[in-house]
Amino acid sequence: MAQHLGAYNEILYPPFLTAAASPDRLAAAARLRGIAAAPPDRCRMLELGCGDGTSLIAFAYAMPGSHFVGVDLAARPIEIGQEKIQSLGLRNCELRQGDVMELDAASLGEFDYIFAHGLVSWVPGVVRDRVLGLLRACLKPNGIAYLSYNAYPGGFQRDMLRAMLLRHTAPISDQREKVRASHELMDFMAQAPFPKPFHAFVEEQRQQRRFASLLYDELGDINRQYFVSDFTALAQSHGLAFAGPVAPDHSLAAMPSALQEQLDKYSAGDATAREQYLDYLTGSSFRQDLFCRAEKPVDHTRRWEPITGLYTCGLFREVERLETDPPHLRRFETPLAMRVPVPYAGVARAFEYLNSAYPRAVPFAELAAQAEDEPAERLAQILLQCAVAGAVDLLAHPHRHASKASERPRVSALARSQAAEGFQANLLCLSVQIDRRVARLLLPLADGTRSQDQLAAELTRILKQREAPDEDTAKSWQKALADPGAEVQRQLHTWCRLHLLESD
Ligand SMILES: C[S@@+](CC[C@H](N)C(=O)[O-])C[C@H]1O[C@@H](n2cnc3c(N)ncnc32)[C@H](O)[C@@H]1O
Repeated sequence: MAQHLGAYNEILYPPFLTAAASPDRLAAAARLRGIAAAPPDRCRMLELGCGDGTSLIAFAYAMPGSHFVGVDLAARPIEIGQEKIQSLGLRNCELRQGDVMELDAASLGEFDYIFAHGLVSWVPGVVRDRVLGLLRACLKPNGIAYLSYNAYPGGFQRDMLRAMLLRHTAPISDQREKVRASHELMDFMAQAPFPKPFHAFVEEQRQQRRFASLLYDELGDINRQYFVSDFTALAQSHGLAFAGPVAPDHSLAAMPSALQEQLDKYSAGDATAREQYLDYLTGSSFRQDLFCRAEKPVDHTRRWEPITGLYTCGLFREVERLETDPPHLRRFETPLAMRVPVPYAGVARAFEYLNSAYPRAVPFAELAAQAEDEPAERLAQILLQCAVAGAVDLLAHPHRHASKASERPRVSALARSQAAEGFQANLLCLSVQIDRRVARLLLPLADGTRSQDQLAAELTRILKQREAPDEDTAKSWQKALADPGAEVQRQLHTWCRLHLLESD
């Protein structure tokens, strides 16, 4: 563990925003399973192994009425997070340096939500067991925990690559040199004259793996994978029940009904078995699962009723319309090319409304009003399928983002503080990317003190003063200078759709 402590301090783990663990998504997921999870805007949340607190800070910013506590063994990331908290003036987020092995459950108190992302697969069994014990001890009766871990069967490929990298780099002690040698080995394997199927996986990793994630994930001392059924059994032995996967499963949208039926047959009504067979189908290598106290009944039947208390956010484009009477069929498509067939006229009107309301998350009653005399169950069932497949985002409370830019637009202070970084945390706690050329310069200015005309004037002044670093940037700056007012409008429109603008 001493090596971990040194390592995470020396070479920082890349900041990562775990959107799926935000209290509003956990609340929505829990309520769909019949658990009366706490209101996300008035809750207490704990993160174990929080790194620099990237996730907790985004949650704390978006939900000022809730309280967030993060603990991590490495001091340096905690200091970085504490500096961010201070500069943003957040009073509802505290990060502490500490070892989960030494945490005292009683003095930590109870929490509505607890999560650990990227922790349990990379720590010794005793630490993993301590994490599970803390969840049990610190979860409130309706509390929900989120744990992510590396999973089989996809993990077998990772194990294979890891074994080769570890053997190759065993004689090297310098960490940077280890990573360099690993890349060199992957480059070598990429040239295999008679590639076998696993070479495709090596190639994928060769392109994707960033320095720190290769160092800690593949080359780490411990990197343990679990079958979902084994992990849930382990959780059960600590008094925790499996409450289902948190993240939507995009592959479900494309699953033929015959396969669905076979899946139902194999799982015979058991939620864990269903997930296990699904993992065989998808080749899952990473899981993000929910747990609650073992005595809490969990409804895995996907009832539609809880949807009526949630908010839906979704963006669609109509791609097909068949309006003979009957049948009536309209097909919508999400920006990720996921198709949603809607065979009822009223439900299709509700989808059109959802689309026109975007970026706002719409309460169910408002959507149902659009569907007029269509039964609420029909709309709710289709929304539920969309949510499970990841075509819409279900939230448990309305957020404070603007649906259109005001005269003095204000980008969230958190996103403004991240203007120079690779991503922005938006007000729905998702990580989004802004245009690196113009938006990076304009974003920090949109703090609510300048009118749209003043933003255009300021942008002009800045662009005239600077020299573009490359040809592509020079072109976009020229375009912005030709009509700065239009450029500001364009950027504001984009930020609004990215949920970056705050409402007044
Ligand atoms: C892979 S990183 C993940 C960080 C963060 N959760 C994320 O997703 O970006 C694992 C983190 O767990 C922390 N950690 C490892 N062992 C720990 C322990 N015994 N107690 C507290 N934190 C620990 C490490 O310092 C590191 O920051």
